[in-house]
Amino acid sequence: MSYPRVASLKNGEAFCRHLADSSIDLPFDEEVQTGPQSPLGRSVQVHDQSIGNRFCILPMEGWDGTPDGKPTDLTRRRWRNFGLSGAKLIWGGEAVAVRHDGRANPNQLLMTKANCGEIASLRQELVQTHEEHFGNSNDLMVGLQLTHSGRYSRPNEKKRPEPRTVQRNVVLDRRVGVEDDTAIFTDDELKQLTDDFIVAAVEAERAGFTFVDVKHCHGYLGHELLAGVDRPGRYGGSFENRARFLTDIVEGIRGATNGLNIGVRLSVFDFVPYCPGEDRIGIPEPGNEPRKTFGGNSTGDGMDLSEPSRLIELMHRIGIRMVCTTAGSPYYNPHIQRPAFFPPSDGYQPPEDPLVGVARQILAVAELKKRHPEMLFIGSGYTYLQDYLPNVAQAVVEREMADSIGLGRMVLSYPDLPADVIAGNDWQRKKVCRTFSDCTTAPREWIVSGCYPLDPFYKAREEREQLKAVKAKLQK
Ligand SMILES: Cc1cc2nc3c(=O)[nH]c(=O)nc-3n(C[C@H](O)[C@H](O)[C@H](O)COP(=O)(O)O)c2cc1C
Ligand code: SF4
Repeated sequence: MSYPRVASLKNGEAFCRHLADSSIDLPFDEEVQTGPQSPLGRSVQVHDQSIGNRFCILPMEGWDGTPDGKPTDLTRRRWRNFGLSGAKLIWGGEAVAVRHDGRANPNQLLMTKANCGEIASLRQELVQTHEEHFGNSNDLMVGLQLTHSGRYSRPNEKKRPEPRTVQRNVVLDRRVGVEDDTAIFTDDELKQLTDDFIVAAVEAERAGFTFVDVKHCHGYLGHELLAGVDRPGRYGGSFENRARFLTDIVEGIRGATNGLNIGVRLSVFDFVPYCPGEDRIGIPEPGNEPRKTFGGNSTGDGMDLSEPSRLIELMHRIGIRMVCTTAGSPYYNPHIQRPAFFPPSDGYQPPEDPLVGVARQILAVAELKKRHPEMLFIGSGYTYLQDYLPNVAQAVVEREMADSIGLGRMVLSYPDLPADVIAGNDWQRKKVCRTFSDCTTAPREWIVSGCYPLDPFYKAREEREQLKAVKAKLQK
């Protein structure tokens, strides 16, 4: 597989030539406009509220909460950076578990009554930082992402998976050590979990969040339920049953809160799990089951948007107006989820030019936006565009292929990118994320996450040496 690094494409012309030569279909605006009336600077309305521009900060956890699920100084710093970014939509901050057994790691935040004050102050610090930089927060919208990590739960010890699943899956069971049916949630347990989401949403409203995200992506519980075709009972089999967890939670939140809004982060398509093949290049893992991918087709590495589209229609019927899109899972097919030049330590070499992965997400979202123009769509996976992110982002918004541009890794290395783009400030090339994947490798090696290569704060931390040593050992 050979393709150039984006940093080696010296200008927009070279970038576009590479796209054309590789038949990668991405829109591109040569001139990026600035100011509040520019395509990326313009506000957008949802739920009778104005969101002040078209940048959104995607949720990103740092594996750095306290053992009882409260934020630490590292968490607070990350949220303050989200506030100073200039983005007017903060999608969830980071994944916050609704109860202990659903934490993806023993340092994940936990939305309980006991933690409500601390999580409220985290939001407050973000808002205050935003106000310090931009004068006010009238058109800033901040939500909280609520989750149960399901198959990827590790609540007690970093190195000990304690998976809870919804159906058997040959490849994924093998990976997390599921050997029998005891890890599968019963219907009664899922009913209890529904109530736990509702309680957490009540706390989120009390903490001042405008909306909660009922997370349905990345292979975690909500997402796995959508693919639960083999599950018997109330939550499996038919489309209606697979969507029941979401619809019950939404109904419960509506009854228990005072008008708290609800959004969904959704993996809008999925592929089968990948593993390293020859030369460590990713291949679909043998034994995979394409029928258990939500939004995947029968080949295992293609998409079928019919069910995701049906789900979005259902969401609209139950009053949801915002979908934060993503794809696949960072655990079993990271190349479709967060395209990168350098894979994380437990990954595989990209089986395609990562720009193909960027385009796949953008085009899938454009198709869904076309089918559901009444919904507000946030796109993801833009970081790999690097220096050309603003050009593609503007073109996407102008062509109504998405309403808002989600930023993940890029804001870890270049937190003030949205403010720079909208104000027309100089592009800070040295802060551009080059997708080294250290922010993913670190937590996979049980080290707190952060941008160790580019963020001076993490560069100076002792964990950087630890990470270097682990990477050197893995490369041997
Ligand atoms: C360190 C790290 C932590 C993440 N944590 C979350 C999370 O808590 N919730 C979530 O929905 N996505 C999470 N993601 C995925 C991002 O929100 C985003 O979808 C992904 O990085 C692709 O966008 P990008 O190309 O802009 O990085 C995380 C990504 C990274 C790199
Ligand atoms: S560690 Fe920094 S440069 Fe590497 S992918 Fe993460 S944000 Fe980007």
